[in-house]
Amino acid sequence: MTLILGIETSCDETAAAVVEDGRTVRSNVVASQIALHQQYGGVFPEMASRQHMLTITPVIRQALGEAHATWRDLAAIAVIHGPGLAGSLLVGLNVAKALAWAQDIPLVGVNHLEAHIYANWLIPPPERAAKPPTTPPFPLVCAIVSGGHTDLVLMREHHDYQLLGQTIDDAAGEAFDKVARLLGLGYPGGPAIQRAAEGADAPQPGNPSAYNFPRSLGAGSGDFSFSGLKTAVLRLVQEIQRRQGSTAPIRGRKMAEVSASEGVSPQELADIAASFQMAVVDALVQRTAEAVERYGAVQVLLAGGVAANKLLRAEMSRRIKVVVRYPPINYCTDNAAMVAAAGYFRFLAGLRSGLELDIVPGLRMV
Ligand code: KG4
Ligand code: ZN
Repeated sequence: MTLILGIETSCDETAAAVVEDGRTVRSNVVASQIALHQQYGGVFPEMASRQHMLTITPVIRQALGEAHATWRDLAAIAVIHGPGLAGSLLVGLNVAKALAWAQDIPLVGVNHLEAHIYANWLIPPPERAAKPPTTPPFPLVCAIVSGGHTDLVLMREHHDYQLLGQTIDDAAGEAFDKVARLLGLGYPGGPAIQRAAEGADAPQPGNPSAYNFPRSLGAGSGDFSFSGLKTAVLRLVQEIQRRQGSTAPIRGRKMAEVSASEGVSPQELADIAASFQMAVVDALVQRTAEAVERYGAVQVLLAGGVAANKLLRAEMSRRIKVVVRYPPINYCTDNAAMVAAAGYFRFLAGLRSGLELDIVPGLRMV
C-alpha cells in the first residue's frame, strides 16, 4: 500500500489529502476562500496567499488525522508547483519542501492540470463504491476546462500528452465567471449560471434555445474562443435594458459596470443563462467529439472545475460515442486528492523532485 500526501494551494483553496495507491481517498480536506473573495467578485491574490499561510498547517494536520496516517506511513509528498498564482503556489510548495526535508520523504512536483485529469482515477472509499471501479484505458481525450484553462489533450499513456487545442482568449470557466458577473449572479460564476439556468429565481427553467449565441470555436481545428460569446451576452443585456428604457446610458460602459439586475426580468435572466451555458457546452462537445474521431480515443475524461457542470456532463455523455468519465463533483474543483493521485503515478514511474523545485505560475501541460 502506497500512501501519498497531496498539497494544493494554487489559487483560492487550501487543500491537503491522503490517497492510497493513487485511487482510494483516505482524507480530502479543502479550506475554501470563496467567502473571502466573494466581496471582490473574484480572487484577490495577496489575500489568497495570506489566507493559505494561515490555513495550510491545520489543513495538513487534519488530512493526516482523518487518514489515520503518520509521517512514517507516507511514501511521498505531492505538491502543485504550477500553473497558478505565484504567491499562492509559493505557500504550498515551500511547506511541502520543508516537510519533505524534515521528515525525509520524497517530494513529487505535480502540474495542476495533470492533477485535474487524475481526479478521474479517484474512487470513493470501498464501502461507498456502487460497483468495482475500472481504470481509464488509453488512448484518451482529456477536456480540461477550468477557470484558467480550456485544453484538449490526447493522452496515449501515463504522462504522455499531446495538446490538440486550446482557447485563444478566455477559458471556459473564466467565461462563466465573467458572464455571471455581468448578469449580477455573483462568484463563482459556473454554479451561479447553472442555478439561474435551472430557473432558481424564475417562474420556469431557462430555455437553452431562447437566444442563439455564437458557438465558441476558434479557427484552429481544436481551438476555442470564448470572448466573442461574452461580448454577445453583454450586447443582448444592453439591448434588453435599452428596450426597457433602463435609466443610465449603457452604451460604452464596461462590462463590470453593467448589472443585469437593472431592467432584466428573472425569466429573461434564466433564458440568457441557459442559452449561454448551452453555447459553451456545445462548443466543448463538438471539439471533443472531433478529437475522439480523429485520434481513435477509447474514452473521454472531463477535468477541471467546469467538469462539475451538469449540462456539460449530460451532453458529452449523450453526444460522444465512447465512454465519457468525469470525477465526482467535489473532486472536479480544486482539491488535493487529485494531486495525490497524479503524484502517485509519477512516484510509480520513478519521478521525483529535488528541493530546488520552484513554482512556475505559467506551467503548461505540454
Ligand atoms: O478547476 P477550478 O476549481 O480552478 C481552476 O483551476 O481554475 O475551476 C474553477 C472554475 C470557475 O471558473 C468556476 O466558475 C467553474 O470552474 N465552475 C463551473 C461549475 N462549478 C465550477 N462552471 C460551470 N458549471 C459549474 N457547475
Ligand atoms: Zn483547478
